[in-house]
Amino acid sequence: KRVDIIGAATAFGQPKLGVDLGPDALRYANLIEEIEKMNIEVNDKGNIYSDFKVDASTHSRRSENNLKNYEQVVDFSEKLAAAADESVRAGAFPLVIGGDHSLSIGSLAGISPHYDNLGVIWYDAHGDLNDSASSPSGNIHGMPLAIACGVGDEKLVNIHKTGAKIKPENVVLIGMRDLDEGETRYIKDRNILTYTMRDIREKGISAVMSDALEYLEAKTDGIHLSLDVDALDPEETPGTGTPVGEGLSLWETLLAMNILHDSGSITSMDLVEVNPLLDEGNMTAEKAVAMASALFGRKQK
Ligand code: ARG
Ligand code: MN
Ligand code: MN
Ligand code: MN
Repeated sequence: KRVDIIGAATAFGQPKLGVDLGPDALRYANLIEEIEKMNIEVNDKGNIYSDFKVDASTHSRRSENNLKNYEQVVDFSEKLAAAADESVRAGAFPLVIGGDHSLSIGSLAGISPHYDNLGVIWYDAHGDLNDSASSPSGNIHGMPLAIACGVGDEKLVNIHKTGAKIKPENVVLIGMRDLDEGETRYIKDRNILTYTMRDIREKGISAVMSDALEYLEAKTDGIHLSLDVDALDPEETPGTGTPVGEGLSLWETLLAMNILHDSGSITSMDLVEVNPLLDEGNMTAEKAVAMASALFGRKQK
């Protein structure tokens, strides 16, 4: 299957400059070449940019509805959704590279209509399950999973296609260690399958991944992986805007990606929150490329 690389060059979901350079940092770290080594055809579709200009004021503005850079995110999500939709329609595997995690509003909106029951693995330190009321920050990158589940601002929920894009019972959260109050409540109310760092320490990453796959494969017809590089420990991936300590290691994540590859069940992916301006060298992008390569079959020793 051909892999379409879709660069989601957006930083409007959070306040730090530089995450919109993530797609190019990943290309500089040889993302395309490394996937091609797995004998997979790769089509780099280039970057999607917002028509809105990025400046210091857009990154501190708070709109009345507690959604920062609201019009920008709405506009960007529509564009990205169209590109992701087209990629799945053409029979390709969309690999959406970011960019902050608000991009998943658009990628899930474009991808999910092609499935009856799309599953989602959210591999992240955060749940990204806030709505405008529960969000402590007003940053939309803390809301995309709630929006995809149909909770939140009306325009954002109705991007590309009216209504919820996925069902909370088709979601698995992995790597959780920084959840806001409203998110914890939502997870509990909807009984969302959640693996915290403590669960991963106790069970091991390989059992967690197998259980997550078993849970999703039984009731979905495709699985989208949304990988936020802050799932890993900041010592591994320092180049990201909202690092949280005591995270996953690189080897655990490569193993997780190999297990997902072997399942043959992953049908699309986001790779997000790489910010080269916050990085040490380009190591976060380099490790992110290793993770994507492992998802496409590169085996660990
Ligand atoms: N929970 C916090 C918030 O809503 C942090 C979200 C971080 N999200 C991310 N995709 N890095 O503001
Ligand atoms: Mn995160
Ligand atoms: Mn995230
Ligand atoms: Mn393979």
